[in-house]
Amino acid sequence: MKSASALIALTLFGSAATAQTTVSKAPFGNTPDGKPVDAYTLKDKALTVKIITFGAHIIQIDAPDRTGKDADVVLGYTSMDGANSGYIADNKTYMGSVVGRYGNRIAKGQFTIDGKQFQVDTNEKGNTLHGGKDGFDRRNWTAKQIPGGVELTLVSPDGDQGFPGTLTAHVRYTLTGDKLKIAYSATTDKPTVLNLTNHSYFNLAGSGTVLNEVMKIDADRYTPIDSQSIPTGDLPSVAGTPFDFRTPTPIGARIHADNPQLKLAKGYDHNFVLNPPHTLTHPAVVVTDPGSGRTLTVYTTEPGVQFYTGNFLDGTFTGQTGKEEQYDGFCLETQHFPDSPNHPAFPTTVLRPGQTYNTTTIFQFTAK
Ligand code: BGC
Repeated sequence: MKSASALIALTLFGSAATAQTTVSKAPFGNTPDGKPVDAYTLKDKALTVKIITFGAHIIQIDAPDRTGKDADVVLGYTSMDGANSGYIADNKTYMGSVVGRYGNRIAKGQFTIDGKQFQVDTNEKGNTLHGGKDGFDRRNWTAKQIPGGVELTLVSPDGDQGFPGTLTAHVRYTLTGDKLKIAYSATTDKPTVLNLTNHSYFNLAGSGTVLNEVMKIDADRYTPIDSQSIPTGDLPSVAGTPFDFRTPTPIGARIHADNPQLKLAKGYDHNFVLNPPHTLTHPAVVVTDPGSGRTLTVYTTEPGVQFYTGNFLDGTFTGQTGKEEQYDGFCLETQHFPDSPNHPAFPTTVLRPGQTYNTTTIFQFTAK
């Protein structure tokens, strides 16, 4: 049992930690149908994080290097409606958004729950990517300020993109010191499938390629894909392959290796099976930029992470530091495995009435 003084100290520490974070709100343009979009700025001593209501996107994270100099370490745009440089025009890269209902792919957009077959919107080569054409990344979420951050809420109606059940989803972004916490929760009124994640593209140098940033992923296995980027269902060991990031290795060291999986995806675009424990104190991924010393540590309750090296960025869109080209950012989409609804051996993504979906990921930014 905790002593009374320990409890008081914990309470004081807890409130002092959040009291340092300031939260402010400003207009950020309009949705395509003219609804106002707001930007929330979360500021603590170490970090400044900007989030918009449209798609619950993270649009900016300013983090210091080893000398204290800030850079924006996520790719993003400065407006809603810039030509080839705004959140409306870019409906391809999922730049910093929350993706849902189902992050990554569902083969043929089909799955069965309790013997009932569902067909959801197919928006990529006959499969469903990131929840269909009008996914959660294209919705204007309602927002309210909470201590140290912002809570975004989306009600997705029964039948949305073909998914069953009215789903009420919340994403809470909070900042404490050098840690940005993303807590997802949701409930449904009919059995459905759910896999929410954030699709930020990180670049710890602030611009240029990420190929020399050094990656460590605590995963002994990964989920190989077929020619349509759907998991084959195998869970092979990473040992002796370019997928072995158990010791820190530059992202680019083996990305062009003669490996069929890397060729299929034009780089890394694979789900890594995270070793347990899946807790908020166990680092799942650690990335360092040797130049600036900026280091990102990822903690998550999720069993997997999609490591994607921006293989399909092709200069179409212009972000805050210029055209977004291949390998200019990497995503670490903490998640359940792609196409889980069609792989009974994978951890389940079914959410039922009466259950509450709860997952949390922390992105911590330090410098060394
Ligand atoms: C997927 C990629 C896809 C990208 C879209 C990633 O999560 O795994 O295959 O091209 O999202 O920006």
